[in-house]
Amino acid sequence: MSDPSAPIGVFDSGVGGLTVLRALRRALPSASFLYLGDTARLPYGTKSAATVTRYSEQCAAALIERGIGCLVVACNTASAFALSALERRYADIPVIGVIEPGAAAAVAASASQRIAVIGTEATVAGGAYQAAIRRLNARAEVSTRACSLFVALAEEGWTEGPLAEAVARRYLGGLFEGEAAPDTLVLGCTHFPALETAIRAVLPPGVRLVDSAATTAAAVERRLGADSGRGGGAVRWLATDGAARFARVGSLFLGEPLAAGEVEIVDL
Ligand code: DGL
Repeated sequence: MSDPSAPIGVFDSGVGGLTVLRALRRALPSASFLYLGDTARLPYGTKSAATVTRYSEQCAAALIERGIGCLVVACNTASAFALSALERRYADIPVIGVIEPGAAAAVAASASQRIAVIGTEATVAGGAYQAAIRRLNARAEVSTRACSLFVALAEEGWTEGPLAEAVARRYLGGLFEGEAAPDTLVLGCTHFPALETAIRAVLPPGVRLVDSAATTAAAVERRLGADSGRGGGAVRWLATDGAARFARVGSLFLGEPLAAGEVEIVDL
């Protein structure tokens, strides 16, 4: 990062990226952050590549305008479709997405190299995780499932118990059966770590879960090294709509209270 006092910019389609921000603050306690949730236009996970790329470019431009020194794309769908365009456009600062770190963690975790990936409809259809895993191990076998309803469950706070488990069983049923079953599951969506308990409850014992929040934070830490800033973990919050909902639902993902008055509404 050119200017260590510049904040790290983090964006997501909404509140899910707060799981990544939480991990980033833990990994880089002296940095400062500028978080943007594009709440006016979520979900990204059901939209086309062209639309997600356009939205992502607008989010990135809004953060760059405000003087960030590093950009973290804390949304799997945006990373899947827009990361290369953002890396090209902002070649003078580090631009880090969540897919490569998640794929690397999965390849490192899996003994059999049979890896399952769950994400939004767009992330799964775009094939970015599959490609990132195969770049690391061409012989890895990757199976995927889109689990769209997990996003709504997580935002509603219905993350454990019979309802969440029934949905998890419906999505994951059959995926871990048979001799060639995967031994590792990538939670390829910002919201899915919130459902970890329900997901684990329907998986065979021993399946490893990979969450790209912590692995992305580690990748940012490696990239910035000692240059991670002097902001003491301060965060400036931006959203494109609904400060009250952003604060209420965001607190669940962030794991700490967030007040609506702290959230600035911006127009992209
Ligand atoms: N943040 C999105 C992701 O990680 C999930 C929510 C959405 O679809 O916008 O893919």
